[in-house]
Order: sequence, then structure tokens, then C-alpha cells
Amino acid sequence: MSVNLESLKGTYDRYPGEWASWRKLIDVVDETAGEFGFRQLNPPTIERQELWTEKEEDSVTDEMYAFTDKGGNEITLIPEQTPTRARLIQKRKDLKKPVKWYDTSKRWRYEDVTRGRDREFLQGDFDIFGIQSVEADAEIITAAAIIYRKLSKETETDLTDRIVFKISDRQIVEGFLELNDIPEVEEVMKVIDDEEKMKREEFIEELEELGLKQEEIRKVDDLMNVSGADNEQQLEELEKIAPEQLQGRIDRMRSLVEALDAYGVSDMIEIDLSIVRGLAYYTGLVFEAFDSEGELRALFGGGRYDELVGEFGDQDVPAVGFAFGYSTTIELLKKEDEWPLKEIETDVYVLSVSDSVRDIALDYATKLRSEGLSVETDLAGRGFGTQLGYADDMNAERVLIIGERDLENDEVTMKHMDSGEEETLDRDEVIEHLKSEEFI
Ligand code: HAM
Repeated sequence: MSVNLESLKGTYDRYPGEWASWRKLIDVVDETAGEFGFRQLNPPTIERQELWTEKEEDSVTDEMYAFTDKGGNEITLIPEQTPTRARLIQKRKDLKKPVKWYDTSKRWRYEDVTRGRDREFLQGDFDIFGIQSVEADAEIITAAAIIYRKLSKETETDLTDRIVFKISDRQIVEGFLELNDIPEVEEVMKVIDDEEKMKREEFIEELEELGLKQEEIRKVDDLMNVSGADNEQQLEELEKIAPEQLQGRIDRMRSLVEALDAYGVSDMIEIDLSIVRGLAYYTGLVFEAFDSEGELRALFGGGRYDELVGEFGDQDVPAVGFAFGYSTTIELLKKEDEWPLKEIETDVYVLSVSDSVRDIALDYATKLRSEGLSVETDLAGRGFGTQLGYADDMNAERVLIIGERDLENDEVTMKHMDSGEEETLDRDEVIEHLKSEEFI
């Protein structure tokens, strides 16, 4: 039988050589989550469709891999994890607040496949449940910023310079439109959300089609283009054009900026009221990050969703969070020539020169593994050169060569693969030697 060996469009066969690099990136995100006390969880990746279809339809509803299973249940591969988390929170009233959750796992959306947009993809979700105040918003945004700080350290390239975090507040945008009597507020917000993908003329045309007069279009424009040398100046500019009923929301944004300043990450942040986001459940703060050249799609996105948990039951729980996008961040790293982040690695390859020493080689392999090293040894009775070639392919740092003649003198040979240098060691002192070199 012959089968089509290609993976489905938008899904990828990541072999170990490539996955090692992905794993490194996931490790950086995992580590950040751990430092902030976000606990890992492992919910299902198939769910009832109603988690998405019962609430207001949004950008992911049409893209779901949805089907009826053999039991007649309407289910879907999850396009995102936020409604799943809302379900889990609603189900457990006993959880101590704040609940801080993180995990990286797969999601599925039937999207147009482009650079950084796949049909099967990984997201790293961070959420804080049970905190209404701006401190939770600040911690969430800071965690995102720290991921890029860590990646900058890892790659020795200042990625934080290449990224802008754009923050906005849906209540400000919506309130501004309503208080200025602009018609079709919801539709106008969708046009604002799509603005970055449109030419200027198209944007104006769409607003005109919704019945906006020139004066109203100018107002929308003013809101979207609030600028200033820094966040405080932007807020002052916003105060000049915003109706005073919005002062409370502007103050909240000011507190957020101040908290981000205290965390030392405010230089990465820009206020941009053209950010609305395509998901329906956001209730206030929304944010997204882009590469500063504006070439890639969003690197991550999130916001506050204080009503979603309450939509699933009788417990109201405010929430704020984001999902880190791996595919786009990798595109950014590629652009900076910093991908792959890592190759596959083996610490030590134990090479047996002949069959007669194989048992001794296996014993060394076991001892080195019990020291926490990654160790490989021959599985096929191969010759010296073939084994050495394999060790090189696996990026072994050291090769411990076990040969009969060395053993007669109670010795073994350690080869350093980067320099090619070899040293003779007492056969009983291999572990001590590696410890003295801080290899272990
Ligand atoms: P989202 O904006 O749909 O938000 O996705 C967040 C990030 O996931 C995007 O910025 C992007 O980097 C990545 N992403 C989304 N779709 C794809 C795709 N098709 N291929 C590759 N990467 C993709 C959400 O999903 C919200 N649930 C985030 C959230 C968590 N809000 C609160 N908590």
C-alpha cells in the first residue's frame, strides 16, 4: 500500500532535530511561568462545541475542527484554551484565588495558512482568575515581557527592541464611540480591528458604508492615532479627546502603565487604541505584541475577560490572561538569524572498540546516566569509525573510548569532540574526573 507521506496542510512533522529547538523555546516559556508561580494543568483538547458556540460568535467559531463523534456528540478540537479554562474554574468553587494557570499545548484552527499561521499549532496560555484589580493585568503583561527578555539572553540579541506590546481597552474604545453617538458601534469596532490589514481608502470606505459621516470618521481616526513621546503623554492626549465619563478607565490604564514601570518593562509598551481583538469575550484591557517592523502577525495576544466564567454557571470570576504564540515568535527568531535555538545533544557517547569490552561500556553508560547525563552507546556492534560518526551526528560532547589495550593498563580514553583532544584516564576515575571539570 502506498500512502501520502505529507502531513496535512498547516500541520508539521517535527523530527527530533527541529523539535529540540522548539523544546528549548517551550522551556523558556515554562521557566517564566514557574518563576511567576503559574501552575501547570492538563485539560482535554477536545471539548463540546457549545463552549464556543453558545457565547457570542467570534473569530474562531468558524475555524473550528468541529464534528459529531460516534456517540452523536457535537465536539471540537479546541481552537484555544480560554473557554476550557473558564469551564474548569466554574466547576470548582473551592479553588483558592488567585488561581494562576499555565500550559503549552496544541490547538487547531482551520485558517488560511501563512507565515506564522498554522492549522495545528502550540499556544502557551497564562491566566489569572479571581483578581479584578490592575495588579493582575500588570503581572500578566510582565510575564509576557520576561519571556522575550529571557530569549534575548539566550540568543544574545536584544529582541525586546524588536517588539512592541500594544495595549488598549475595549471599554475606552466602545465608550468613546457610544458617547460620540457614532452609529453601529460593534461593527465599527470590527473594522477598527481589521484596520491593520487594510489600505487607508478601504478603511474609510468601510466606515462610510456603516453610515459614519466625515466628522465621525475623523473622531475614530483621532482615537486610533493618539500619540505621544511616552505612555504618559499618550494618556494626556487621550484625556484631551475622550469624554469625561471615560476618565475612570483612563485612570486604570495609567495605573497599569505605572505598575509596568515598576516592573521595569514599560519601555516595551505602547498604548494603541486600534487594538480591539477578534475574540468576543474580552471586557476591558486587550493587548497584542508585534514585531516592530510590522511584518509578522501577532506574537501573542490577550486581555481581560471578566464575564466568561460567569456565562458558564452561577459563579462570577474575573480573569485576565494571554496566549503566547510559538509560530510567530519562531518567525521573529528566524528573521533575527537566531533559529534554531538548539540542536539535539548527547553528553557522552560510550564507544566500545571491540565486542569483548561491550559489557564494560554498558556499565560506564549506566553509571554516567545515573549522574544525570545523556548517554548513548553502540546498539549494533558497529566499528570504531561508524560509532564515532554517529556520536558526531548526535552532537556528543565527549566520547568515552573503551579499548582492550587501554584496559590492560587500567585506563580509558576520553575524546573532546569540539577540540578533537584526547586524554587518558584511570578507569576508576572517569566520574571524578568529569566532576572535577564540572561536566557533571
Ligand atoms: P489569539 O489572539 O487568538 O488569542 O491567539 C493568541 C496567539 O496565538 C496569537 O497572537 C498567535 O501568536 C497565536 N496563534 C493564534 N492562531 C494561530 C495559528 N493559527 N497558528 C499559529 N499561531 C497562532 C487567544 O487564543 C486567547 N485565547 C488568548 C487568551 C488567553 N486570552 C486570555 N487568555
